[in-house]
Parts: sequence; structure tokens; C-alpha cells
Amino acid sequence: MTEPQSDLPDIYYPDETTLKNARIRDWQQVEEEAAADPVAYWEKRARELTWSKPWTRTLDDDDAPFFKWFVGGKTNIVTNAIDRHLDGPHKNKLALLWQSEDGKETRTFSYFSLNRAVTKMANVLKALGVRKGDRVTIYLPRIPEVFFAMLACAKLGAVHSVIFAGFSADALTARIDDSESKVVITADGSWINGSVFPLKDIVDQAVRFSPTVENVLVIKRTGSEVTMDPLRDHWYHDLTALPIARGACETVQVDAEHPLFILYTSGSTGKPKAVLHTHGGYMVGTYATLRDTFDLNDGDRYWCTADAGWITGHSYVVYGPLLNGATSFMYEGGPSYPHPDRWWSLIEHYGITTFYTAPTAIRSLMRFGDAWVNRHDLSSLRLLGTVGEPINPEAWRWFYEIVGQGRCPIMDTWWQTETGMFQIAGVPAMPQKPGSAGRPIFGQVAEIVDEKGDPVPDGTEGFLTLLNPWPAMMRTLYRDDQRYLDTYWNVYAGRYATGDSARRDEDGYYWVIGRTDDIIKVSGHRLGTAEVESAITSHSAVAEAAAIGLPHEIKGNAIHVYAVLNPGHQGSREMTEELRAHVATHLSPIAKPDEIIYVESLPKTRSGKIMRRVLRARALGQDEGDLSTLDG
Ligand code: WT7
Repeated sequence: MTEPQSDLPDIYYPDETTLKNARIRDWQQVEEEAAADPVAYWEKRARELTWSKPWTRTLDDDDAPFFKWFVGGKTNIVTNAIDRHLDGPHKNKLALLWQSEDGKETRTFSYFSLNRAVTKMANVLKALGVRKGDRVTIYLPRIPEVFFAMLACAKLGAVHSVIFAGFSADALTARIDDSESKVVITADGSWINGSVFPLKDIVDQAVRFSPTVENVLVIKRTGSEVTMDPLRDHWYHDLTALPIARGACETVQVDAEHPLFILYTSGSTGKPKAVLHTHGGYMVGTYATLRDTFDLNDGDRYWCTADAGWITGHSYVVYGPLLNGATSFMYEGGPSYPHPDRWWSLIEHYGITTFYTAPTAIRSLMRFGDAWVNRHDLSSLRLLGTVGEPINPEAWRWFYEIVGQGRCPIMDTWWQTETGMFQIAGVPAMPQKPGSAGRPIFGQVAEIVDEKGDPVPDGTEGFLTLLNPWPAMMRTLYRDDQRYLDTYWNVYAGRYATGDSARRDEDGYYWVIGRTDDIIKVSGHRLGTAEVESAITSHSAVAEAAAIGLPHEIKGNAIHVYAVLNPGHQGSREMTEELRAHVATHLSPIAKPDEIIYVESLPKTRSGKIMRRVLRARALGQDEGDLSTLDG
């Protein structure tokens, strides 16, 4: 899919307008300077923000890879995302524009009114006993309250854990229990393609036996019937009507290294990894990378389509734009409901200038044809972005020619939940190559290595590693330092192992190929084979299962499961439907396998490990490789 098409260029140069407006025109020079002294580069960016106490040491690597940034400094990400704008020119600027899925409601918040809303939520959380360091789980649809909830936690120095509101009760329970959350913030339901998804019911199931959850805060969104436990559950609008919600609320000044949030992501075992990010470094990193790569300015209306339940939503829907004093747009629904031009009509209506989305969405919209795009005036757009998986050149060119009308540079941004911020990405003045994520961000060095950790020559595929620490890097896996070391730092000594394969070309551009571990990217969502397998084997008919990812035209990868059934059960179409539904309710609808293949046994090593690589090779009709460890 990465083969360039012969009739179109393989490299796109920024046009005059882009160059004229680019904040960073001399990117080679900035790249060189940052390479010479990366720490000084980040120090300079950190000085553009407000600190109540200056840091004394920019990077503390004494206990590497437990890096610390801006040590001794005090701030709060909310001080910079909201408070500092209230005394400046952005006080009355729009921070957030929101539209409902049915198109009937629009809500707008200036920085001033966003502060009011966040303060109210913070006062309510405080009244419910939330204090600095406490964990709060947020399970909300794409509505403005997800901003208020995250920012209110941060304001108090509490640690938020946002769970994508498509995860099942089982997945939610595991994450609430692991984080020992005191409070859960949810809604009575969410709108999905015109119907209600019962968020509150799922929370009820998830917290029934929770040893830690004391209060559940419920936002009224759909008006659907829900059960309220009088001792535990509170309507948010009831509490905001009380005096407790009124008045100012201090933005608690915390150490730069104070935890800001936990975000669960899939790893290679069934237990999701709790990635921990902190106030100071994460703030500097998301602020600087969004500013450089998207060149945000006061004239922009920025739209990132990600859900707040993923890292993209954290870094580049909520925090990054606010840190930059930008105007963001948030839309409650999906791309093609009720019609395949929903997104294009929103871009036209709201005059979106910068639009950031995932290749899978581009591919699915491309399928409906150009006419859906062409009936809208998209002349407001000036810059496009993609994230989540490699973009095939065909989809890139469609995005460029049809959506961007050949006028808008596309910023392909490579990064991870763990990195917190972009690691490989361009700036608008940098020429782009369709399908390549570009070059390492200023101050970063990326190297492609072989299995032993030795760098490979340009053009050769290998494992992608990062060499320099960066401010928004995860600090550890929450309460699992050993897993942090083993997964990321002990694979190739002294390097951060990304888990991706990639190659670098002769111009220093990086071409990411995909995951090399037991993680599958399905429609840009990250799923672990072990999570899917444990969801499916929790069904009484299934003895054993192996999940693999196979290429899919729109989703990038699709999940295929090989299942061994218990005696007395037959593989049938009904069984397949039942198992797919079982995965949806026990993990998430996004994890539903495309295919289930019933087999007598699974290929295993002599030590009993499932050889997914063999299943993949067989499915693709490829060489099965070294089978010397195969049992039997
Ligand atoms: C994995 C991380 C970080 C934002 C959302 C995903 C893949 C991410 C790109 C890109 C090729 C990409 C990698 C990475 N990935 N962006 N621009 N080009 N691949 O975060 O869920 O933590 O997944 O997504 O495989 O390791 P995530």
C-alpha cells in the first residue's frame, strides 16, 4: 500500500501562502539548534508558560529512565490552559464550540465562561470530597462536560482517568478498581447514530461492588430513564444549584511532577497498562508540539475529531488547544450519520481552518465518493492532520486533493499514549511525503534498529526507537515500575522501544509500518490480542482462542480469531454472532472480531505460548518462518 502512484508526485512542497504564514520557516535551522541542545530547546518553550515557582533543574536523569522534568517548578496545567487567558486578550475569545449529533444544539464557551463551568465542576467535586492526588474516573460522551470534568480534576490536583465511553462494564470495573477511583463522572446516556447508549446502566454494573467509589456524578444528556442510588448517585444539575457550587475555586499549585492523569491502554497482556502523565512536562510538550505542527493562531478554528477517551483527545482536543488559547470545535456524533457529508457540512458551517483526524475515517468517507465533499464550501481549511496508523498514499492524496483542495499541508503525526505528544511529525513549511510521518520533532532522535538494538542502514526496515527523553513522556506505568522498565527500556538498553517497525529514507523521513508486538490497531483503536482473547474465552463454549490482525481496506487491520470450542459445541454462524456480541459486551464493540475460525488446536511453542505469527503467515499465505519451537 505504500508504493507511490506513478502519475502523482511523491513529495509535496508547501505553497507560498503556507510558507508566508508559517511561524517556523527555517525549520532546518530550528532542527539543528534543538539537536545541539534538546534540553535548552524545551526550557525555552517552558518559559513561554506561567509557573508560580520556577524550576531549578530542567531535566533530571539521575534515576533514568525515570526521568523528571522542570524539577522544583510549580504550576498547574489549568493555570496555563485557562487562568492565564483570563487576564489577557483571550478572555472573551471562544475556547469551545460544540454541536449536538442531532444538529439542533450548539453550545459556545469563551475562556471566561469555560472557567465558570470548570470552577463549578471543581467546587462540586470538592464538596464530594475530592482532594489533591485522588483518582476520578470519567466515562462521558463527547459533550462539553468532558472538558469541565478533566479540567476540574486537574484544577484540584486530582488525577483523572478517562475511559472511552464505548468500553463495557467489565472493562470499566477493571479500570476503576485499578485506579481506586473515589468518584465516577458519567451521563444518563449518550447519542450514537440517533439511539441512546446507556452509560449510566453500565456504570451501575461496574461500580456495584466497588470498594472505593463513594459518589457517582450524573450529567443529564439524553433524558433517558436511569436508576439513581440515593446514597451514591447525584444529578450534576442538582448539585450545581446548591451554594457549594458557587464562588471561586483555587487552582491548586502542584509540583511539575505531580500526576495529572492515568490513561489505560492496551499492552501485550490482558491487563491494560495505566500510563501516567504529569502536570509540568505534559503541559510544555502538548503546548509546544501543537503550536509548531499545526501553527495555531488566533484566526483558527481547530477541530480534532478524536474522543477524549484516547490520548489524542487528552493532548490535542482538551489540553493542547487551550494551552495555546485556541478555539476548538467538538462534535458529539460520528462522521457519516445521518449522511456521509456530516463532517464536511460542519467544516463549512463552523469555518474550520485546521482539521485533524484518523486515516480510517478518511478511507471510510472516501468510499462514499467526492460529490459528498464537493457540495460543501471547504475554503476555510488551511491545514489538515492525521494520526493513529499509517496513511496509505491513496487516502493521503484524496484528503489532500479533494478535502484540502490541493491547498492544505497534511501533518501526519506519529506518537503514542505513552509519548503524550507528537514524536514524528512535520511543520507546515516542511515538504511532505504521502505515507511518511515526516521527521522526528525538534529535539528528538529516532533510530531504526535490528533485534540486537544496533542501528540499521537507511531504507532497511527495523524497530523504531527514540533516544532523547522529552517533557510529555509517561513517567511510569501507575504502580508498576517494573512493567514500565521491561516494556519500554529493557528491550534495547538506553533506548525507548516504541513497539513499531519502520524505515528511514535517504532524506531522513520516517515510514512507520506497524506494530511488532501483540497489539492490533483496528480503525486506529489500540487493542491487545490478549484482551480480545480473554473476552472471547470468558464465553463458556470457548476453550482457547488466538486473535490476530489482518489487513483491512478501511480499518487498517481487522481482528480474526481462531477458536477451539469446548466439547458439545459446534462452530456455526449463530455461534459466531453470539461470540461477537459477547466480545462487544465484555470488552467493547470496537473489539468485535471480523471473523471467527473454528479449529481443533492452536499452534503453540513447546512452552505453551500461542504462535500468532504462524497463524498470520498461514492466513496471508506467507512463509511460516522458523518453526523450530513449534510443538508437535
Ligand atoms: C500506535 C500508538 C497517539 C495517537 C493515537 C494512537 C500507531 C500512531 C501513527 C502515524 C503510523 C501511527 C503506532 C503507534 N500510530 N500514529 N501517524 N503513523 N502509525 O495512540 O493508541 O497509543 O497507539 O499507533 O503503531 O505505536 P495509541
